Order: sequence, then structure tokens, then C-alpha cells
Amino acid sequence: MALYALGDLHLSFQSEKRMDRFGKIWRNHEKKIEKNCNKLVDDNDTLVLVGDHSWGKKLPGCQLDLEFIADLPGRKILIRGNHDIFWNPKKTKELNDLYEGRLHFLQNNFYSYGDYALVGTKGYCYEGFDSRQHAQMLVEREAKRLKLSFEAARAEGYEKFIMFLHYPPTEIGEKVSRFTLMAQAYGVEQVIYAHCHGQERFHDSLLGNVNGIKYSLVSGDYLDFKPQRIL
Ligand SMILES: [Fe+2]
Repeated sequence: MALYALGDLHLSFQSEKRMDRFGKIWRNHEKKIEKNCNKLVDDNDTLVLVGDHSWGKKLPGCQLDLEFIADLPGRKILIRGNHDIFWNPKKTKELNDLYEGRLHFLQNNFYSYGDYALVGTKGYCYEGFDSRQHAQMLVEREAKRLKLSFEAARAEGYEKFIMFLHYPPTEIGEKVSRFTLMAQAYGVEQVIYAHCHGQERFHDSLLGNVNGIKYSLVSGDYLDFKPQRIL
């Protein structure tokens, strides 16, 4: 049994969006995902996909992308990325019902992995694209959702946590954020995030051991689409 994570699949089986314009590393990236997952991940493993799954705007436009993910080996757990507009966070239950046993959508809930609870939400950090005030509002909303995830796990007796975010836990230059403070308060062992693309973004946030918590970036191009072993 092993736990893996990978973010930013950015699949586009039903759209014209081509990722290779972002660099050679994205050329046939879905083939790399398929090959690496089949090689590494067994059926009794868990693979957490850390957001930005599909370019489809609505669920019917994501079907092939979600089928591709469902066909990967292991138990697949998904969290929302900023591009996953097909996923209404208020309708996560509908998605879980629709893909029952094939895909597991993590929002305001949690999944267990041995004696660990896998918790998470999309997160948010200021990147200069909106106002500080708007960013703060989104951070607070995401923190509330993350708290629901933690509390759902705690209510079932879990005390060990691995926390997943799509956005980096801190903005550039920040050492402490709403999310790192929550990770510390709940005694999280590892924080896993994605979203940062290209060499110049890979060190935007925390990496390695910080205050006793291990931070890992698992964005697709950072890992060349090879899932990272978490546990
Ligand atoms: Fe993203």
C-alpha cells in the first residue's frame, strides 16, 4: 500500500486547449501520466490528484478527461484546482454519487489512508491578479472549507493528517499563512500542493521541512508527470 500525489493534469480530450505551448515538458503529457501511473501505482495504492484536472467548462465537456483519470490504477482522490470549473463545490456529493467507486472527490469531507486522514481544499494565495481584499476573502472561504475537512476527520477519531491544497500554502515571500497555521494547529505531518508551473515558479512557496511539517510541490511539470510518493 502506498500513497502518491500529482497535480495539474490539465487534460483536454474534449477541448482545443493544447498544453505544449507551455514548453516541451507538456508534449504528450497525458501519455507520460498514463505510463508513469501504470508503472508506479498498484490497485491497492492511493493516488491524490491535486487539482486542475480538466479544461472542460462543464461536466459533459470533462467526461473523457474524468474517464482517463478513472482508468488510472489505484484509488483516485481529487481536489479542486482553479481551472476545475466543472466542479461546483456545493455539489460534491453529486459528483461522488456519479463516479461512485471510481473517483473520490475531496471537498468538505476526508478520506482515510491507514490511520491517516487525507484532508484538503483548493486553497488560495495572492498572485497579483486580484485585489488584496478579494484574495483575503477567498483565503477565508477556503480556510472554512479546510476546517470542515479536518473536523469531519476528527469527528471519526483521526489524529494524523496529510493536507492537500491546489494553491501553494503561502504567497511569494510569505513564511506563514492561514493555511500553514492551520496545518500546525491540527498537527499535520505533510502539506502537498501544486499549481506552480515553470522553473521560475517552483520555489514560490515552502519546500521541505518547515516547523516540523514536510511541504511538497507536486505540480505536473515539476515532477515531469511522475506521481510523488507521499507515504
Ligand atoms: Fe492551478
